[in-house]
Amino acid sequence: MEILKTIIFFFTFLLFQTIQARNECPSRFCGKNQFAIRFPFLLQGHQPQNCGYPGFNLSCTSQKPEVVINIPDSGDFLVGDINYMIQEIQLFDPNGCLPKRLMSLNLSSSPFTFTYSQNFTFLSCPIDLVMKSRLTTIDCLGNSTASVVATSSMDHVKAMNMCSTIVSMPIPVSWPHRNEWLAFDFKEDLRLTWDVPNCVDCESKGGICGFQNSTSNQTHCFIDTITGQSRGLQIFRIIVLSIVIPAIMCSIIISCFLCFIGRRRHVVVSAPRNGTAAVAPQTPDTTIIGLDDSTIESYTKVILGESRRLPGPNGATCPICLVDYDPKDIIRCIPQCEHCFHSDCIDEWLRMNGTCPLCRNSPSPSRPV
Ligand SMILES: *[C@@H]1O[C@H](CO)[C@@H](O)[C@H](O)[C@H]1NC(C)=O
Ligand SMILES: *[C@@H]1O[C@H](CO)[C@@H](O)[C@H](O)[C@H]1NC(C)=O
Ligand SMILES: *[C@@H]1O[C@H](CO)[C@@H](O)[C@H](O)[C@H]1NC(C)=O
Ligand SMILES: *[C@@H]1O[C@H](CO)[C@@H](O)[C@H](O)[C@H]1NC(C)=O
Ligand SMILES: *[C@@H]1O[C@H](CO)[C@@H](O)[C@H](O)[C@H]1NC(C)=O
Ligand SMILES: *[C@@H]1O[C@H](CO)[C@@H](O)[C@H](O)[C@H]1NC(C)=O
Repeated sequence: MEILKTIIFFFTFLLFQTIQARNECPSRFCGKNQFAIRFPFLLQGHQPQNCGYPGFNLSCTSQKPEVVINIPDSGDFLVGDINYMIQEIQLFDPNGCLPKRLMSLNLSSSPFTFTYSQNFTFLSCPIDLVMKSRLTTIDCLGNSTASVVATSSMDHVKAMNMCSTIVSMPIPVSWPHRNEWLAFDFKEDLRLTWDVPNCVDCESKGGICGFQNSTSNQTHCFIDTITGQSRGLQIFRIIVLSIVIPAIMCSIIISCFLCFIGRRRHVVVSAPRNGTAAVAPQTPDTTIIGLDDSTIESYTKVILGESRRLPGPNGATCPICLVDYDPKDIIRCIPQCEHCFHSDCIDEWLRMNGTCPLCRNSPSPSRPV
């Protein structure tokens, strides 16, 4: 399997390399971040200007590799993830106080917008009042004398008449929150979307958007390059699967077939073998690497009882013929490793192989009878 992995990696690498050579704006990564930075985003200073759409500049922080976006009038945010399929960017505050940033968020000069927003009121309340209630406070906004809570309920605001309103404004939320009496704490990242450029169709077809050429401002869907990659990979996977699966199926069928033949032959030869000791081996060609009948006969043979419990480290299924053991089945066990099998199956196997099929231990061929 290691070899297979290496081959797959090698092929992926090769395909990827050829795609990269054809794509003028390859994806960029900021350190070990998981997500790719590509059109409409641009990693500033690492890509030519025509690789990104205006307003989508990103940069890398140097100390700890993290992606930063500057939203005009609202400052820098760290980027948690970019979903190109649904055109969504996930942002959080470098100082860990997103509510503070939301209170001054102004997206009017940026390409970003939000799917849902809800009117929230931020209230500054005396700290002892909040301590007595079960309100969720926004700790990073509070101080030693005042706690800050946010609520989407006007009733809530009216009831909290000891508090002063800081600001009341629409706040982007990932889904509308019910007007619960409990206040909201903004623990989740800020999710923003963009409408222009619209690359949803292109992405869903497996393509990547980009400007048509370095002088044009028309977007174009570069679909053939990327599907070339995924189609190539798919074909490769199909080839691998079409080799591996038949190989496994073949080996199962062959072992079952051997087992079946062995059982039938056993039935046919068992009568003369019991009568006369001088029966010639049924498969003389294979006795060279296998064991002779007298050695095989010297191994313990048991008849299974109603409990079907086998001696030693054995399961409920014969590993050679993959059939469950039944009461009264004749079982033969290999003395060195105590592995047991249907007598019909293991006898035929040992005549050809001479080793335990499970652990490959070689029973001594010169074992005295
Ligand atoms: C975005 O990045 C490009 C390329 O680095 C640069 O030319 C452009 O001025 C940047 N735009 C803004 C708004 O920073
Ligand atoms: C948002 O910013 C624009 C200009 O950048 C400004 O005209 C507008 O008044 C701001 N909106 C708020 C609510 O501050
Ligand atoms: C939010 O408040 C504004 C006025 O401040 C109002 O026009 C708008 O309808 C409110 N939205 C919701 C969803 O209550
Ligand atoms: C605490 O914050 C409130 C506003 O939320 C402010 O009026 C007050 O002066 C602050 N107190 C201290 C000690 O910083
Ligand atoms: C760039 O694309 C435009 C169409 O959007 C075309 O008119 C122009 O000739 C192209 N320029 C080059 C250098 O290919
Ligand atoms: C492309 O640029 C031309 C002028 O250079 C402008 O008139 C047009 O609106 C731009 N189109 C887009 C989609 O930005």
